[in-house]
Amino acid sequence: MSIRIQDGLLSLETKNTLYQIKVDEIGLLRHIYYGRKTKDDMSYLIRQADRGFSGNPYSKKEERRYSTDTLPQEYPTGGAGDYRTPALMAEAGNGSRTCELRFSEARQLQGKKKPEGLPGVRGNKKTAGLEIILRDEVCRLAVHLIYYVFEEQDVITRSVLIENEGDGTIVLNKAASMSIDFFCGAPREVIHFHGRHCMERIPERISIPQGGKLAVGSTRGTSSHHSNPFIILCNRNTTENEGDSWGCMLMYSGNHQEEIGADQTGNVRLVAGIHPDAFRWRLEKGECFQTPEAILSYSNNGLNGLSRNYHRIIREEVIRPQWRQGERPILLNSWEASYFDFDANSLINLAREAKTLGMDMLVLDDGWFGKRDDDTSGLGDWSANEKKLGCTLEELSEQIHGEGLKFGLWVEPEMISEDSDLYRAHPDWALTDPERQPVIGRSQMVLDLSRQDTQDYLYASLISILDRTRIEYIKWDFNRSMANVYSHALPADRQGETAHRFILGVYSLLERLLDRYPDLLIEGCSGGGGRFDAGMLYYTPQIWCSDDTDAIERLEIQRGTSYGYPLSTVGSHVSACPNHQTGRTVPLKTRGVVAQSGTFGYELNPALLSGEEKAEIRDQIKAYRRFYPILAQGDYYRLTEIREENDYAAWMIVSPDRREALVNLVMTHVRANSRFPYLRLQGLDPERLYRAEETGEVVSGAALMSGGYTYDQQNGDYPSIQMHWVSE
Ligand code: GLA
Repeated sequence: MSIRIQDGLLSLETKNTLYQIKVDEIGLLRHIYYGRKTKDDMSYLIRQADRGFSGNPYSKKEERRYSTDTLPQEYPTGGAGDYRTPALMAEAGNGSRTCELRFSEARQLQGKKKPEGLPGVRGNKKTAGLEIILRDEVCRLAVHLIYYVFEEQDVITRSVLIENEGDGTIVLNKAASMSIDFFCGAPREVIHFHGRHCMERIPERISIPQGGKLAVGSTRGTSSHHSNPFIILCNRNTTENEGDSWGCMLMYSGNHQEEIGADQTGNVRLVAGIHPDAFRWRLEKGECFQTPEAILSYSNNGLNGLSRNYHRIIREEVIRPQWRQGERPILLNSWEASYFDFDANSLINLAREAKTLGMDMLVLDDGWFGKRDDDTSGLGDWSANEKKLGCTLEELSEQIHGEGLKFGLWVEPEMISEDSDLYRAHPDWALTDPERQPVIGRSQMVLDLSRQDTQDYLYASLISILDRTRIEYIKWDFNRSMANVYSHALPADRQGETAHRFILGVYSLLERLLDRYPDLLIEGCSGGGGRFDAGMLYYTPQIWCSDDTDAIERLEIQRGTSYGYPLSTVGSHVSACPNHQTGRTVPLKTRGVVAQSGTFGYELNPALLSGEEKAEIRDQIKAYRRFYPILAQGDYYRLTEIREENDYAAWMIVSPDRREALVNLVMTHVRANSRFPYLRLQGLDPERLYRAEETGEVVSGAALMSGGYTYDQQNGDYPSIQMHWVSE
């Protein structure tokens, strides 16, 4: 039984974890415990003290040790004497911002339900859930806390449904997806993932501030390059392989915020959800608001252990079932090969080369539609530029298929260029302030997807292409941050809903398209990894990880990404050297090793390669196909710590049966008379002997994990070593 309800004690159990909540004597819902599994009632942990300036609810006015300001809570609200970060801020019709939620009922759920209009961890009819209803009797608000348990993956999901049960309007100024108070044994450090275009998801590990808070997130309209909706809490002594860590990942692609801080007595609160800046949602009588789902996990096997939980849940329960097994196509993308400069002949030549090298698909990137020879025009006009191509899109696709390749196409549906027929016809379809000049990004504006008519227009435009043309893959891009978030279709008092309604519009459009083309593979993209989140992964099983294709830069970007997301979701390609973003030259072998740890492909013009390079690429492709089962399904381990200053980066993937492991090491700095690179392997079977295919050495799993492995000194620019250890 993964969920137990006993005298107000609510316990959710996964294979290795326990999550516990308790209803107290005044109906306040307390968070009791989240950590390693035990069968106990953990509420003995909570102590109370009379603390100055921490007020008492009226019914407890004689009991000064009782304060909502110091007790651990499950879904804290604003205005009622808890001065820490609230999860919910509601405004009643009379302007009052006080909200006091008290327990009303709890019931078990069977069968996973997706949050309305939003993506959710999939589950099945047997997935166990818990619904707790809290009510504020004054402003007549019902708050449904909804939990589901994914036992095998050690994951608990949370989301919140807020219902107006009264007659008046209630305005939500903040509605987080989750909150947890760590009362005892609180984590002391937080890891968040910041970044920028071309350098996404850089982990920063810092102390949790005392008496204040760290708030990270995005107000860019997308989950963003700048702050991923994933956060980890851990202890000071947690390493990659040992110690406690707690993760919270939002399944959401829009504005988000993660707030973390320690209160006056050191208790730690984490609140995560839609970013409250610019969020204001009106709930009329009988209306509901549903928050995105948060995916929580705990591991006492260090950060690698936590990452493996997230990798499993994403592979097994987030991405579309048809993409869980089976190979993804190895593709050649036209972007860095020819940018906007192509026609059907040059594309067919690319396809021919790709085929002889052993690839599966040609992807035609930006520039094939409307008037689009650079990035200043054409977005919104989704019909092929036949003059530029020299043929129709259908003919081009047939010719590419005739070469034995699949065909993929780039689109950026959520945008509109000022210089486009669409904007000339419907200027009010752009997100713009009616009385100001718009903020322009990459010469474009954002199409207002909170509107049904724009969604319908895009649906009609895209199906008119997809119905007529053989297309197996779409790259779905989004190339600017939102500004002037004003919808011409919403009244003044609902403008605070635009950003979230936009994201609901994107999800709804993707849902409709995938209903019609269930086998279409969509790769998400937002100038690389600007919308790399579990919400998009629900629809797009892979996401272009970064516009920076330099293999050495990618070591950092892909390492940061690996904390939350499995290799099978990470779009990574081998590109030409000198690299177009950094000008750096890295050996083709190293570029291959790095790109292999993701959905593999190439982003270059093969006609410009030497015969030797082409032969090496053929071998890389064969190796990728051979290692695919390990790369796509195996257990991933980072072998170098965040805080270590190494001259190399290393990671390994172990097959689910632990009979094989692929160990990768890339030198980022080669020195004269250097130390020997050294690694301690992880995840092997200590009882087995493993043979290294490359050197023939035979070493036991126990030795490789406790003694480790020493490499020879390395020379040259950015050399890499890949070793395939196979059990004897
Ligand atoms: C974005 C993408 C690139 C490419 C260009 C095309 O930057 O991340 O991969 O598709 O757009 O304009």
